[in-house]
Amino acid sequence: MDLKSLIRDVPDFPQEGILFRDMTPLLQNPKALDFVSQNLVRDVDLSQIDFFAGIESRGFILASHLAATHHKGFLPIRKAGKLPPPTKKISYALEYGTAEIELPLGSGRIMIVDDVLATGGTLQAAIDLSSSAGYKVEAVAVLVNLKFLNKMKFNNKEVFSLVQY
Ligand code: PRP
Ligand code: MG
Repeated sequence: MDLKSLIRDVPDFPQEGILFRDMTPLLQNPKALDFVSQNLVRDVDLSQIDFFAGIESRGFILASHLAATHHKGFLPIRKAGKLPPPTKKISYALEYGTAEIELPLGSGRIMIVDDVLATGGTLQAAIDLSSSAGYKVEAVAVLVNLKFLNKMKFNNKEVFSLVQY
């Protein structure tokens, strides 16, 4: 399925010089959404997964859909300050400044999902945070990998993605 044709390129958003990859048309297409949910896990042994962990905000959309499709739970990895205790928090570097994400302390085997992998800062922080909060990270996947911006690996392999730029 040609997913790229359902991702809209928006030049100079949210800042001049940035080419924003907008997945809204894909989310509005039920067949594409179903294709994404089936294929993001095509190399994953689902019997080893308890929860799909989504990274706020756009990772929530995909992880919730995966959880519903594959009859698993959902785990929110949130921007810091939104979740009640007990939680664990991590700070990580952005191009300018820092960001913080947080998740509930807990246990279980998880697959972490996000929409876009850019520099990799967010996904790497989510992996490190999940492990230190008690979860076992079995798999990670993103819809779009902006490969020219990262060399990120998980378990010594390129991060699984369905669309690459
Ligand atoms: C975007 C995107 C990824 C992250 C990737 O999230 O959804 O989560 O940036 O960037 P990185 O690989 O350089 O860390 P962002 O927090 O900008 O917005 P969102 O709340 O819409 O998901
Ligand atoms: Mg995001």
